[in-house]
Amino acid sequence: MITYNVIHLQQVNSTNTYLKELSRDTRIKEGTVILSDWQTEGKGRGDNTWLSEAGLNLTLSILLRPSLDANRHFFLNEFISIALVDVLKEYDISATIKWPNDVYIGDKKIAGILIENVLIADKIVTSIPGIGLNVNQLVFPPGLVNPISLSQLLNRTIDLAEVREKLLRSIREQYSCLSACEYKPMHEEYNSLLYRRGENIRYKVGGKISSGVLTEVNEEGELIIRTENNRYVNFLFGEAQIVI
Ligand code: BTN
Repeated sequence: MITYNVIHLQQVNSTNTYLKELSRDTRIKEGTVILSDWQTEGKGRGDNTWLSEAGLNLTLSILLRPSLDANRHFFLNEFISIALVDVLKEYDISATIKWPNDVYIGDKKIAGILIENVLIADKIVTSIPGIGLNVNQLVFPPGLVNPISLSQLLNRTIDLAEVREKLLRSIREQYSCLSACEYKPMHEEYNSLLYRRGENIRYKVGGKISSGVLTEVNEEGELIIRTENNRYVNFLFGEAQIVI
């Protein structure tokens, strides 16, 4: 069972960058959490940034030392996304996971996850999942496509410390399933929560938009789409994008 050591910073460039640096020291234990009120250079996946207004949302990163086979890397995405969906359930909010690991309410994004791994040979020895959850922000910069916050959904201000506790508890529970190698049920749960699963979607590959049925995500984290010609095609993250 993971035990947490929460380090609360008022300001940092990025909780992921900070924790990645810190974790080079192998004495820094699994369960170290960097939580910050304000990130000056919050990072999203790929080349994206993560913008979050100071003091209103959850932005945190957790140090894990999972010793997981590299080919099982996608289970890290799965357990964190499921943990977030479970927290939202506690607020009676039904969320889905937009491949690979955005948390959605309807067609709006409430949380994003950035996972950075360190490998030695074929093992993931260090993993740093960074989570940005929109909690009390009511106004978002115009550049963001479709953000939503917990507060907008519930029409009240949410106790940030309470959400943080719920999130850390939920992550602990899901991580213990991963540590117990309960890969299959976790994978099934991930797929059952998949945004627009079984629906006809539009997806973009190299600038070209096509449509097809979002079938499922395989254990390697590839999105499987049934094309209009009834062929199944797999995409790794970065190769294809779901168009909303
Ligand atoms: C995405 O949706 O593209 C991923 C966003 C991840 C944002 C979080 S906020 C805490 C942690 N620190 C960062 O710099 N990024 C992640």
